[in-house]
Amino acid sequence: MTYSIRPMVNEDIEQVNEIDREAFPTQWPPANYRQEMQNKIAHYLVAYDDTRIFKYYTPFQKKQPNKFLWLFPRRNPHHSPKTPLLTHFYIIGFAGVWMLVDEAHVTNLAVRQEYRGKGIGELLLLASIDLANELKASFMTLEVRASNVVAQSLYSKYGFAQMGVRKGYYLDNHEDAFIMSTDMLTSPSFQEHVVQLREALKKKLD
Ligand SMILES: CC(C)(COP(=O)(O)OP(=O)(O)OC[C@H]1O[C@@H](n2cnc3c(N)ncnc32)[C@H](O)[C@@H]1OP(=O)(O)O)[C@@H](O)C(=O)NCCC(=O)NCCS
Repeated sequence: MTYSIRPMVNEDIEQVNEIDREAFPTQWPPANYRQEMQNKIAHYLVAYDDTRIFKYYTPFQKKQPNKFLWLFPRRNPHHSPKTPLLTHFYIIGFAGVWMLVDEAHVTNLAVRQEYRGKGIGELLLLASIDLANELKASFMTLEVRASNVVAQSLYSKYGFAQMGVRKGYYLDNHEDAFIMSTDMLTSPSFQEHVVQLREALKKKLD
């Protein structure tokens, strides 16, 4: 199986919303990824499975009842009554980073449930660290639910340490957020740590 990472594009949004709903079902307000694609400080990455495709209807096809679609197939260049779907890469996870001056703030990180525990979360976090380096960030930060021990474990593994608590930060259940931050990204100890983790992940995914 091959997993790859690339920047998010508009065509990914339907699948990203699907993953978001699965990963953060109670989040309020829900993330608006279409808006995020216009946000100058936002940088989103997706992980996809090279061996699978995702089939989807265009918005036009979704809005129209089928009986009209097959009567007027030429209205939609993609439509044929037998093959009404478009295809796209199968997105298995995504991550978002906001660049705030010299701070790279991880806004989201989620992996499709069926793909969890295989190293995809790590792959996305590593790609976000690479992105932060490319964008010349000095350090990375994030907020994570106090109860989310899985994500905290992933972040700790990559050198994020708890720096504080935002009381009642999450609007859905008033849960606290832990604020986590890396050391300086250019520090030799952080870089050496990332080199080792990258090697280990490469072996795991090969
Ligand atoms: C958090 C999340 C992104 C992890 O993705 P994943 O692909 O399953 O994680 P990986 O397989 O890459 O595992 C990486 C590390 O995460 C931690 N981890 C993963 N699954 C875990 C589990 N079931 N229990 C405890 N730690 C776990 C471990 O530290 C693991 O490293 P290890 O393999 O050396 O033990 C995924 O669980 C998810 O999408 N959760 C819902 C959304 C979410 O909570 N996002 C974080 C918001 S701040």
